[in-house]
Amino acid sequence: MAYWRKNTRKQRPRVCDPEASPYAEFHDIGLSIGGRRILQGLSLTLSEHRIGVIGLNGSGKSSFVRLLNGLRTPDAGSLTLFGAPGERALPELPRHVGFVFQNPDHQAIFPTVEEEIAFGLTQLGADKTESRARARDFLARHGCGQLADSPVAELSGGQKQLICILAVLVMEPRLLVLDEPLTSLDALATGRIRDKLLSLPQKIVMVSHDLGHLAGFDRILWLEDGRLRMDGPPDTVLPAYSADIRRRLGTEAELAAL
Ligand SMILES: Nc1ncnc2c1ncn2[C@@H]1O[C@H](COP(=O)(O)OP(=O)(O)OP(=O)(O)O)[C@@H](O)[C@H]1O
Ligand SMILES: [Mg+2]
Repeated sequence: MAYWRKNTRKQRPRVCDPEASPYAEFHDIGLSIGGRRILQGLSLTLSEHRIGVIGLNGSGKSSFVRLLNGLRTPDAGSLTLFGAPGERALPELPRHVGFVFQNPDHQAIFPTVEEEIAFGLTQLGADKTESRARARDFLARHGCGQLADSPVAELSGGQKQLICILAVLVMEPRLLVLDEPLTSLDALATGRIRDKLLSLPQKIVMVSHDLGHLAGFDRILWLEDGRLRMDGPPDTVLPAYSADIRRRLGTEAELAAL
């Protein structure tokens, strides 16, 4: 959560409406990195409770979801987040958008697990002692009480991923953006976190290569080469995506046999 900006004494007038629906509006959005086009021509309005994002490696999923919390800013088109133009919404996004990184090492910044969880609570206004007590309680309620004093750097990959998810969940943001959050978790932790996520009242945008995790979602966005290839309900988009992969594998096998 290194992108969080410290509270400043001077309060700016708020521009975001946390209840805005849609919460994100993309108008012909493009994104370049290092002079290379990564995303292009994205026009979308996002308001659904559960949105899944799929696509092959390098198709632009992480870049796309990073636009939702200001980690990336578009260089073409216009983006509205929580009812405000993206660049004006930027300072308020950490309050409304919780982001779980694909790689936990990009997210975890504190020496111990307890501090990692407590940090967000401090940012929301709790004092240090209260934050730490609430962090311990939260960890215990999620089956991780024994990790509270552990150095984050010494956790396993899956444990780190779990702590990064909890560090975001504890802040109860309006929108949770999860970039492949379950990839390293064991079956028990996956079940726990998936059930927890599904029970949350908050909106979720989740990137996943495991299509099973997205079956009950409201809407699926399929990205291909930085463009929207398909957008619709899971029972339409997921089979189409699987069929496309089978077709590609078939073509590759035919070429290899030549
Ligand atoms: N920091 C960066 N600098 C240069 N190019 C980048 C950077 N981040 C991403 N890209 C490029 O943008 C494209 C999309 O990357 P992105 O990480 O968004 O894909 P992805 O769909 O999330 O892939 P994966 O499934 O492997 O996580 C890739 O071609 C990648 O090389
Ligand atoms: Mg990615």
